[in-house]
This record gives sequence, structure tokens and C-alpha cells, in this order.
Amino acid sequence: MTLIAVTRAVSPTIAECELTHLAREPIDVAKAVAEHAVYEETLRSCGATIVHAPAEPALPDAVFVEDTALVFAETAVMTRPGAPVRRREVESMANVLSAYRPLFVIQPPGTLDGGDVMVVGQKIYVGLSSRTNHEGFAQLDTHLSEWGYEVIPVPLTGCLHLKSAVTQVADNLLLINDRWVSPECFGSMEMVTVAPGEPDAANALLIEAAVIYPTHHPATAERLDRAGVRVVPVPCGELAKAESGVTCCSVVFEAAGRPS
Ligand code: GLY
Repeated sequence: MTLIAVTRAVSPTIAECELTHLAREPIDVAKAVAEHAVYEETLRSCGATIVHAPAEPALPDAVFVEDTALVFAETAVMTRPGAPVRRREVESMANVLSAYRPLFVIQPPGTLDGGDVMVVGQKIYVGLSSRTNHEGFAQLDTHLSEWGYEVIPVPLTGCLHLKSAVTQVADNLLLINDRWVSPECFGSMEMVTVAPGEPDAANALLIEAAVIYPTHHPATAERLDRAGVRVVPVPCGELAKAESGVTCCSVVFEAAGRPS
């Protein structure tokens, strides 16, 4: 098996990205591109093979591939992003993923952003956010029930996506901002809470036995370290101005053989 990470180049238009909870700031495109290169190199160092989706230079948020697709062992779900302008990002990702999985496509009036979906084994937590609606949730639930997944709706407040508020950092361990999502939604799982003053720090990318994590949340990184999590730091402060986290820039999954 090969661990694939699908990524896409930073668009030169990224400064025109969608923003929901952040004030717009200038984005240095060259710096964002350099951060993205380090991110890809870090994915490689964690064992992933990078597959590049076609660049979409006119689509400001196209680097945030996570929102366009969910890949499970049995199927790839092509989303229908809640921000209408982002729906044009989906087709080129579908072309890439069709080489690996049968595709299922979320239909109107459903909306679903990949950033709202946290997979913990057979449990699929779906944030009901400004981007993901009940219809999108219901379509995903019906589709995944075929393979016995339990799809669980999660209310959230104050942030863009479910994975802005909570991510998995080890087998039975979540990293959480408990002001944005209730820990009670996640049963008996253990939790590390973000450090005071770092509300945006709950987004981490678990890949194999490591967690790719922003350098700009040092106090929370220390908490993860104390919890026994192997933190691999990446600089991503420029990309974060586009309201993104480390999960946003890749879609990671196992595939048979090597990509052609
Ligand atoms: N800029 C990321 C998003 O709003 O989808």
C-alpha cells in the first residue's frame, strides 16, 4: 500500500480567499508558496507520496483541497462546498480521485465541506457549520451506512469548520478548543485542550505516528508533547491568514500500488 497525499499549488489569487471569522490581511504569496513547499516536504518525510491536483490559479482557495473530498477505504465522496465560489474546485479533484476510488457526489441542496468531517475509525463526526447543512450530512450518512460507518452530527460555534475546533492526534486522543465544540460529543475519548491565548490551535494533521502542527502555536505544541504526541512543526502563518489549518492542504489516504 502507498500513503497518498493529494495537494494543490497555492493560487496567486489566494489573498481573495473566502473569510468567515478572520479579518482580511494582505497575504504574501511567495511566503505562502514557500510554506506550502515545506508542508509537502514534511508530508514526504512522514511517509506520504505527493500527488498534485491540477493548479487552479483563478480559484483563491484551491490549495485547501481537504474541503473538496473525503476518501474512505471503499469510496471517495466529492463534496458540495458551502461557499458557492468554492464549488468550482471539485471537478479537477474528482478527476484525480477517480483513479483510486468509486466516486459519490453530494447533490443540491446538500452542502458539505471536508473540513467539517473528522474520521475516527468507523465514527464519522460531521460539524453542522455555516458550510455544511443537514441535507449534506444526511446524504453522507445514507451513503456511508452501506459500510457500517456511524455518521454523527456535531453542533459547533465560533469557528469555520469542525476541524478548526477539534482534530485527532493519537488513537484515543483529541486536540480540542472546548469553547467551539463540546467535548461531550466525542464520548470517552481523551482530550488535550488548546492553550489559553491560542484559540486556533486545535487543527493538527495526524499522519502515521506523527502530528504535523503549526509552529505558531507553541504553548499548545508543548501540551501535545507532554501528552506523548510526536509533533512535527511546520511554518504556516501566511496560509493561516486565509483561514486555514494544516489539515486543509491535503487529502491523505492509502492506495494499492504506486501512483502512475
Ligand atoms: N479560506 C478558506 C475558506 O473559507 O474556505
